[in-house]
Amino acid sequence: MTKQEARERIEKLKEEIRHHSYLYHVRDKIDISDAAWDSLKHELAELEKEYPDLVTPDSPTQRISGRPLEEFKKAPHSQPMLSLQDAFSEEEVKEWEGRIQKIIPSAKLDYFCELKMDGLAVSLIYEKGVFLRGATRGDGRIGEDVTQNLRTIQSIPLRLRLPEKKELKEIGFNEAEIKKIISTAEKGKIEIRGEAIMTGRVFEELNRKYKKEGKALLANPRNGAAGSIRQLDPKITAERQLDFFAYAFVTDLGQKRHEQEHEIVKTLGFKVAPQNRYCENIEEVIKFQKEIAEKREKFPFECDGMVIVVNENSLRGRLGVVGKAPRWMLAYKFAAAEATTIVEDIVVNIGRTGVLTPVAVLKPVSVAGVTIRHATLHNMDEIKRLGVKIGDTVIVRRAGDVIPEIVQVLPKLRTGKEKEFKMPRECPICGGKVIKNKNEVAWRCESRDCFAITRRQLMHFVSRQGMDIEGLGEKIIDQLLKEGLISEAPDIYDLEEGDLLPLERFAEKSAKNLIESIDKSRQAPLVKFLNALGILHVGEETAIDLANHFGDIEKIRKAEPEEINAIPNIGEVVAKSISGWFRDEKKEKMLNRLLKEIKLENPKPVRRKQILKGMTVVLTGELAGLTREQAKEAVRQRGGDVSSSVSAETDLVVVGNEPGSKFDKAKELGIKIIDEKEFLKMIK
Ligand code: IVH
Repeated sequence: MTKQEARERIEKLKEEIRHHSYLYHVRDKIDISDAAWDSLKHELAELEKEYPDLVTPDSPTQRISGRPLEEFKKAPHSQPMLSLQDAFSEEEVKEWEGRIQKIIPSAKLDYFCELKMDGLAVSLIYEKGVFLRGATRGDGRIGEDVTQNLRTIQSIPLRLRLPEKKELKEIGFNEAEIKKIISTAEKGKIEIRGEAIMTGRVFEELNRKYKKEGKALLANPRNGAAGSIRQLDPKITAERQLDFFAYAFVTDLGQKRHEQEHEIVKTLGFKVAPQNRYCENIEEVIKFQKEIAEKREKFPFECDGMVIVVNENSLRGRLGVVGKAPRWMLAYKFAAAEATTIVEDIVVNIGRTGVLTPVAVLKPVSVAGVTIRHATLHNMDEIKRLGVKIGDTVIVRRAGDVIPEIVQVLPKLRTGKEKEFKMPRECPICGGKVIKNKNEVAWRCESRDCFAITRRQLMHFVSRQGMDIEGLGEKIIDQLLKEGLISEAPDIYDLEEGDLLPLERFAEKSAKNLIESIDKSRQAPLVKFLNALGILHVGEETAIDLANHFGDIEKIRKAEPEEINAIPNIGEVVAKSISGWFRDEKKEKMLNRLLKEIKLENPKPVRRKQILKGMTVVLTGELAGLTREQAKEAVRQRGGDVSSSVSAETDLVVVGNEPGSKFDKAKELGIKIIDEKEFLKMIK
């Protein structure tokens, strides 16, 4: 991306994010998922990281929040209500710790980890033990006074509970501190912050009721909570049966660790998430996050990640605040099922019945924890429905065992360079005519063998004599073809783990293994590669002759038929077939794609005494000291040819253990026979 392109993209992203942010924060309306919105923010932040001079003060990365609603009384905060930096992967969490450690190298860091509940952040002020004022975050400095609404929440005490001395002692406070806490709770001012939420059960009950009554439904529990609190009529809030979980004790009463804040608020009569936990180091944090990620479906409330807090409060001052987010906290979010990315291309794949399926090739993107590169578009009708063009920014979703899909196009992010997709009129695989029956949605390739040929070529490409991709067998090739994930060899190198996971027979481990063995084949001997291409009349032997003669693929693809024909063992027909293959436009395209993915190892010119020059050698039986391949190679390097059957033309037969009928035939024809020992001596 050029700087100019980055500048344009940044402007478009800012506009789009601002638009959704306004709808969400100010109008309480949702039109794209949090995950998709986060994904856009992430892209913007990444671009701004690359081009720091393009960051403007009005960028949503500089301040992400809405304005307070006019209707509520303004509620200035004693200390700003900040936001959190996000992380989506283990690496990002470790990088965060790295940055902290750089600032305070001597500190031994431990953490307190909390559920990041998905509701609305509120601040509660108690004076002389009585609930005085409750406020939303607003813009962080000034919130909305929603006291009346918060008073309807049963788990927000209207009067603080007075802690017992014993309880505070157990938390680790000394006599003086205990006195101060109790007297402040009784006579002073205390501020507590936490999350007001709607449980999943209440959300469903309410929506059932609203549906019956023909009322508008709540979009999700979070919106249910946020919408109810920012309501002018407290009766409506009461009906919504919200809940409250505390996560911070703002008033400084001598607490040294964040962990203690959670303990204090409990003694004051608040609920805290029971899952919250102390973690001794970052490895424990990561382990804990994985545990929570698995269990969270069963929680009674929505939880979109974990908040990691540096436990030692005394470190906060030195760590400071970056933008609007404290450096001592991090939101480690769960991998979202949706993300935004770019449609780099739309290709078609041909199924068993000849149907052409359009598939979007995406800029690789991590969705729900794995990378995907393809999304099926099903057919032309679906492309029309989505209105998707090549070059578009789209929202993609990957849910469980379902093939990744494009859910929505973001047309505001278009640059004008997007291209409409047209169904090809010629089959991209076999060149056959593509037709559409009147009553059908599908387009088909007229040639009946198209699929069979493709399939056979792919099998040959991945086979042991070819690229030798372990684990990519017949059944899996069929599945990949069926889902439109591959239609020619280079497509194999575009596969990502997330493309495989939804397929039958695949689990995380097997998907990872297959991607690994594909990656292994990215480095391959020229001979194997030539054989894998499936050029008519080119088998292993001819591939070896070609590789040894030319030494590299570029020379082979440029060679004239006469030059190829001049190689001993290669006749006119074969030479023509080879040079014809390399001159075919479609094959050329495919070859270029392959060469971008695969690094070829050229054969080393071998200088051995040509003791077998001009001789035809047959191997039979099992050799103890050499594999069959090594034995063949040894013969070839010494000028000999290997043949699989004995005839009058055979010059030498090498016999190993338990030889077959070739041995008898050799004796019959009086051909020279040697055993393995002699053979080894000969090639030494
Ligand atoms: S700490 C910097 N702790 O997440 C202060 N926030 O993205 C942030 N949230 O506005 C507050 N659970 O609404 C904190 N255990 C938790 C939280 C939590 C949910 C929300 C909160 C905040 C937002 C920040």
